[in-house]
Amino acid sequence: MPLDMSLRLPVALLAAAAITRAQTYTLQQDLAGAKFLSAFKYNESAIDFNNFGNVHFLSQAAAVAANLTYVDASGHVIIKVDNTTSGAGDPTFGRNTVYLESNELMDIGSLLIFDANHIPFGCSVWPSLFTQGQIWPAQGEIDIIENVNLETANRFSLHVGSSSCVQPTSVASNQTGTITTAAGSISNCTVTPATGQNTIGCVTTETKPNSYGSGFASQGGGVFAMLWDLSGIVFWYFPRGSVPSDIGGTASPDPTTWGKASAWYPASSCDPSTVFGPQIITLYTDICGAFAGVPSLFTATCGQVAPNCSVLVPDPTNYNDAYWDINYLRVFTNQAATASASASASAASHSASTTGGGGGSGGASGTGGASSLSHLGRAGWVVVALVGVAAVAL
Ligand SMILES: *[C@@H]1O[C@H](CO)[C@@H](O)[C@H](O)[C@H]1NC(C)=O
Ligand SMILES: *[C@@H]1O[C@H](CO)[C@@H](O)[C@H](O)[C@H]1NC(C)=O
Ligand SMILES: *[C@@H]1O[C@H](CO)[C@@H](O)[C@H](O)[C@H]1NC(C)=O
Ligand SMILES: *[C@@H]1O[C@H](CO)[C@@H](O)[C@H](O)[C@H]1NC(C)=O
Ligand SMILES: *[C@@H]1O[C@H](CO)[C@@H](O)[C@H](O)[C@H]1NC(C)=O
Ligand SMILES: *[C@@H]1O[C@H](CO)[C@@H](O)[C@H](O)[C@H]1NC(C)=O
Repeated sequence: MPLDMSLRLPVALLAAAAITRAQTYTLQQDLAGAKFLSAFKYNESAIDFNNFGNVHFLSQAAAVAANLTYVDASGHVIIKVDNTTSGAGDPTFGRNTVYLESNELMDIGSLLIFDANHIPFGCSVWPSLFTQGQIWPAQGEIDIIENVNLETANRFSLHVGSSSCVQPTSVASNQTGTITTAAGSISNCTVTPATGQNTIGCVTTETKPNSYGSGFASQGGGVFAMLWDLSGIVFWYFPRGSVPSDIGGTASPDPTTWGKASAWYPASSCDPSTVFGPQIITLYTDICGAFAGVPSLFTATCGQVAPNCSVLVPDPTNYNDAYWDINYLRVFTNQAATASASASASAASHSASTTGGGGGSGGASGTGGASSLSHLGRAGWVVVALVGVAAVAL
C-alpha cells in the first residue's frame, strides 16, 4: 500500500527545495508481455567474453524454442536460465540463457520503472538489470539490479569513463542505502582498467529488507525505479505492499512524492549530461564468472553449499530459481523531444562470437581470461573488480 500522504509530503517538499526535478513525465516505452520481449535484441554468444561466466547466450529463435523466454498464462514475462539440461562430463559446458539489449536508447530526462515478482537467485547465479552507453565506459553504465549467490540486498552502482564522477559520502543523509565502496569522503565511479583502480564502481547497497534473493520473491517481488536527469541519478526500491500509488499505471508518476531515495548520485559530483550518453537497457543472468564465481564472494554465502562455484554448473536443479518474472518495464521522459535513435552501434558487436553452437565458456577459460587486463569494454572493469572486491572483502 502507498505511504500515507501526510508522512510523505514533508520529505517531498524538502527534496524539491534542493533538487530540480520534473514532476510530470510522458510515457515513452511501455513494455509488458510479448511487447517486452520484442523490445530487446538477443546478443547471441557462445562465450561470455565480458564476464567469463559459464553461460551460452542464445539467439532469439533458439531461446524461444528452448522455452527460456516466454509470456506465461498470467501475462508475466519469464526469462530463464536452462534448468533441464545436464552438463555432467562436459568440461566446456555453458548453461543456456539470454543477454537482452533494448532496441531503443534511453536519453537523459528518463525515469525507468521495473516491476518484477521474481529475480534470479541461487548459488552461482548473477542477475543484472542495467543500462550502458553504446561506447563503454565512455558513455557510462547505470546498475539498477545486481548481486550474486545468496546475498539478500540489492546493489546500485555507476561505472563511468570520466575521471570526475564520484558519490560523496555526504549524500548519506539523503539516501537510505549504505555506500559500500567509500574511500575517504568519496566513492569513486571511474573505471580504469589499465591501472586497476576503482573498477568496482561506486556502490550503494539497499538497506530495506528483501531487495534481492528468496526474500524478494517470497514477499511477491517489488518495484525498482531509476531517474536520470539534470539533478543526477537516483534509485528507489519499493517492496510489494509499499509501492507508491502513482506507480503501476501509465499516467505520469511524481518521484518528488516518493520520499528519500535508496541511492542518490547528485549532479554536483557527477555530471549526468556529460558522463553518460544515450543508454541501452540491458538484462541478463550470468553464472559464476567474474562476480558470483570469485572464491571469497562465493564462499561468503554459498560456502556451506559447495566448495566452489563451477562445481554447481552441470546440475540443472541448481537453477530452478534462476529466472526473472516481470510485470512490466516502463520508461517515462520529461523531455519534449522523445525521438530516440536506434541502438545501431551496439548491433555491430553482436556477431562477434556465435560459433561453437554447443559450447560455452568453461571454468578454465574463465580463469585465463580473468587474469588479463587487456580486454575491452565490460571485460576490463570486471577483471579489475575481482581485485577490488577481494580487497574490500578482506
Ligand atoms: C554482446 O556480446 C558480445 C559477446 O559476448 C560482447 O563482446 C559485446 O560487448 C556485447 N554487447 C554489449 C553491448 O554488451
Ligand atoms: C514453458 O515453460 C512453462 C513453465 O516452465 C510452461 O508453463 C509452458 O507451458 C512452457 N511453454 C512451452 C511452449 O513449452
Ligand atoms: C577517481 O578515480 C580516477 C581514476 O583512477 C581518478 O583519475 C580520479 O582522480 C579519482 N577521483 C578522486 C576524486 O579521487
Ligand atoms: C541533502 O538534501 C538537502 C535537502 O534537500 C540539501 O540541502 C543538501 O545539499 C543535500 N546534501 C547533499 C550532500 O547533497
Ligand atoms: C571445485 O570443486 C570440485 C570438487 O571439490 C573440484 O573437483 C574442482 O577442481 C574445483 N574447481 C575449481 C575451479 O577449483
Ligand atoms: C525449472 O524451474 C521452474 C521454475 O522456474 C520449475 O517450475 C520447473 O519445475 C523446473 N524444471 C525442472 C525440470 O525441475
